[in-house]
Amino acid sequence: MSRILLTFCLLIGCAVGARAGVVALHTPHTSLVLSAPKGGALQWLYYGSQLTAIDLSGITALGGTVAYPVFGLGTSSAEAALAVTHSDGNYTTDLLVADAAQMVQEAHSTLARIPLRDPVYDLCVDYCVRAYTDCDVVEVWTEIWHNESSAVTLRRYCSAVLPVRRGAVWVSHLHGSWAAEAQMTQQPLQDGVLEIRNKDGVRNGMQDRAEVMFSLDGTPEENSGRTIAAALCYSGNYQLRIVTNWSDYHRLFAGIMAEDAPYTLPSGERFVTPKLAVAYSDEGCSGASRALHTWGRQHQLAHGTALRDVLLNSWEGVYMDINEQAMETMMRDLADLGGELFVMDDGWFGRKYPRTNSQGLGDWQVDTHKLPHGIAGLTQTAARYGVKFGLWIEPEMACLRSALCEAHPEWVLRAPRREVTTGRGSTQVVLDMANPEVQDYVFSIVDTLLTTYPDIAYIKWDANMEMQDYGSGYLADTLQGHTAIAYHKGLERVWQRVRSKYPDVVLQACGSGGGRINLGVLPYFDECWVSDNTDALQRIYTQWGTSYFYPAVAMASHISASPNHQTGRVIPMKYRIDVAMSGRLGIEMQPRQMTAAERALCAEAIADYKRIRPTVQQGNLYRLISPYAHQGVASLMYVGGDKAEAVAFWWQLDTFCGQHLPRLRMAGLNPDRHYRVTELHRRAAQPLAVEGKCYSGRMLMESGIEVPAGHNGEQAWASTVLLLTAVD
Ligand code: GLA
Repeated sequence: MSRILLTFCLLIGCAVGARAGVVALHTPHTSLVLSAPKGGALQWLYYGSQLTAIDLSGITALGGTVAYPVFGLGTSSAEAALAVTHSDGNYTTDLLVADAAQMVQEAHSTLARIPLRDPVYDLCVDYCVRAYTDCDVVEVWTEIWHNESSAVTLRRYCSAVLPVRRGAVWVSHLHGSWAAEAQMTQQPLQDGVLEIRNKDGVRNGMQDRAEVMFSLDGTPEENSGRTIAAALCYSGNYQLRIVTNWSDYHRLFAGIMAEDAPYTLPSGERFVTPKLAVAYSDEGCSGASRALHTWGRQHQLAHGTALRDVLLNSWEGVYMDINEQAMETMMRDLADLGGELFVMDDGWFGRKYPRTNSQGLGDWQVDTHKLPHGIAGLTQTAARYGVKFGLWIEPEMACLRSALCEAHPEWVLRAPRREVTTGRGSTQVVLDMANPEVQDYVFSIVDTLLTTYPDIAYIKWDANMEMQDYGSGYLADTLQGHTAIAYHKGLERVWQRVRSKYPDVVLQACGSGGGRINLGVLPYFDECWVSDNTDALQRIYTQWGTSYFYPAVAMASHISASPNHQTGRVIPMKYRIDVAMSGRLGIEMQPRQMTAAERALCAEAIADYKRIRPTVQQGNLYRLISPYAHQGVASLMYVGGDKAEAVAFWWQLDTFCGQHLPRLRMAGLNPDRHYRVTELHRRAAQPLAVEGKCYSGRMLMESGIEVPAGHNGEQAWASTVLLLTAVD
């Protein structure tokens, strides 16, 4: 700590003293250094492990690269982070450092604001970097404004450019589709451009994800090697371009998708780009994940350091077939199993047009034919069974067959003077969140529910449609290019209002499954629904990818029926439970359909989960054996902050005769302490040979233990959850 303070003081000195213009920011283990000489170009000098004062004194000798390249002068062919058409039509921009960086000490971070100015035009950019003092993450973004005589047009407006020195660099990134989100791609970076982008308009996490991880020392390793993770915190369309050309660097250009979205910026208005969160670790991909997770829990997620309840969500149990009796039965069964929160999903609303797949969305009044005693009746029932109550809504959307659309056809998002394209059920439409009246209406849905029924503890906020038509009836004809950005600004305003009036309610971000997974929505939400695919085998892959950037506390992971409703796969309850327990545990099935043995197992596992919940939801993640490595097994573990407790998950992925499975070699333990191994909710007739025995952390990490093929399995589907408790 004293070293950090000393370095910080030296650096403040640097900013104003002999090495004027060097701006260095530090997290507990990393440093980011920029050169910002007044009247010169802003340069990115260094990002990596924390530097000493002596390192810093020689840092400029190592050279750097332009931190925020702009379009049009000198190298007009080069990739630009910012491109502007000035008020007189000039297409070029120049940005020089206008003044010394302003350093602001915040509660858990230091913010450097470096003012950049165009020497000819009255255009300004604040280049902002926030470095946390309690986790190894820096945030980088820009704020753009001008005082030109009339509006300027932003043609390109990245948040940041992250340079990664060429070498044996690999990149890991996530792609997917509905029910197959967050599939991992890992590839070496080569010359050319690798682009990861999203133009869904409404939810940006279903297909390509807005995060990347660079492994600087060759093939990505989970627990060794220098690694940089970068995550764009934004809920709308985005573009990540990794450009490798003539320079010595791979450069990640990250920001809002500017294609088809030129932004007209009036004089005096500030355009704030979303932040790019960046983490460095010399402990491999898992190390970079841990840095992001810690930052996520402490600074980005709503209630990130609180434990989450074990819930039952009604969707796969009854779909839209909601009725009072069914809800009560599920609540009772949940309580019997030891669960804590019941969530009623889609199907509970609509009077003139009772909810079906093709009608009623937008009319958030209880369907009293299904629920004669309304929400109040349900919250009372929940209280009777000692569980909390939550509710599904999809407030940014409506069906054309709804009282809402009959009353307010102008609230539907549509290209002016054109028919609207519909989605789900051939009637679903998106509401025009650019319109302040729609923002008020969407806020009022949540406000009315939470005010009328203060016992609602949880809301699942869904979004089941992309922006099919680009255009807003609210925006002027000349500003149609703002449609996607204005939608998200409007949405964010609503989320801010909800959070400031209802700070305690737990909110889940859902978008047809994992469509709303982005760190930009997490200041408002507590967790994300990872995927509509609840098949335990496929979830291992989806959750593995998701865990690269999201902590377990934010990953909703539910036990579902067998055969699984999405894949038809038959998987025993033990395995389904053991996969779901590695995230925020829930149930997504009709408990009535469980056999007596399954119910007993489920109840035992929920009790176990409550015991290990602090370690799973708040501990440090070490991914051990990747499902993508084709070793027949996947494994990961969580280690508590003080390393006194750890929980290891081991899932066999396939079953072949004569298979040689790897040993379970652990990570993150204290090598000098001894840990007792206890298997949780075992169903195998024979305990593991290591059951109840103690081993040093060193031995568990270097040599590991054997988990025999087929352990706990029913022919196939072997899995185990091991609790490690420090004994000295
Ligand atoms: C989406 C969600 C599901 C469920 C349905 C309800 O698909 O991802 O979990 O809530 O909508 O219509």
